[in-house]
Amino acid sequence: MPIRAWFPTFLYCEPLLKSGLRRLNDELAAECHQVRDYDEAGRAWSAKNYPGGYTSYGSMAQMQHFSSSFADLEKKIVRHVKAFARALDMDLRGKALQMTDCWINIMPEQAAHSLHLHPLSVISGTYYVRTPNGCPGLKFEDPRLGSLMAAPPKVANVRDENRTYVTYPAEAGNVILFESWLRHEVPANRVAEERISISFNYALA
Ligand SMILES: [Fe+2]
Repeated sequence: MPIRAWFPTFLYCEPLLKSGLRRLNDELAAECHQVRDYDEAGRAWSAKNYPGGYTSYGSMAQMQHFSSSFADLEKKIVRHVKAFARALDMDLRGKALQMTDCWINIMPEQAAHSLHLHPLSVISGTYYVRTPNGCPGLKFEDPRLGSLMAAPPKVANVRDENRTYVTYPAEAGNVILFESWLRHEVPANRVAEERISISFNYALA
């Protein structure tokens, strides 16, 4: 072939563990609700910044230091982060990728999370705890979108590697990782059940 792909954007998606995810998610969901009920400052922050939903991002954004179950979750996630960094050929220069932030997201019906990225981090991701049927996935955009200028749109049957957006379904038990500069969003939840996820950042330390 005269054409080769260069500068690809990699996304990682794997079950957190080979087994035991249902029990782990039941425990995490219960703790997420406990934190929401306890976290008055976070509920106030969410009312302003996360309409209709609850996130601990503005109040308790380092859950791995507050809770032993989140500390245990970090130990399970870091294996995936290391594998992803290796696949990206990252030269960490003797430093380690460490979880710097970890927060809860509870999205009832109508809650959404608009396009954003995660500054000051290297690898970010989300672990899915509760994903009712039909709840929104995680939508990523082509990082070159702002440079497309006069580029024509894609044909209807566009091949995967030429897409402008891709949506990964939210599936309880899965961990999704991406480089922190990659813009993404969660479209509005259109089902009458809560979608619960735990998001995190890793940076070099
Ligand atoms: Fe995010």
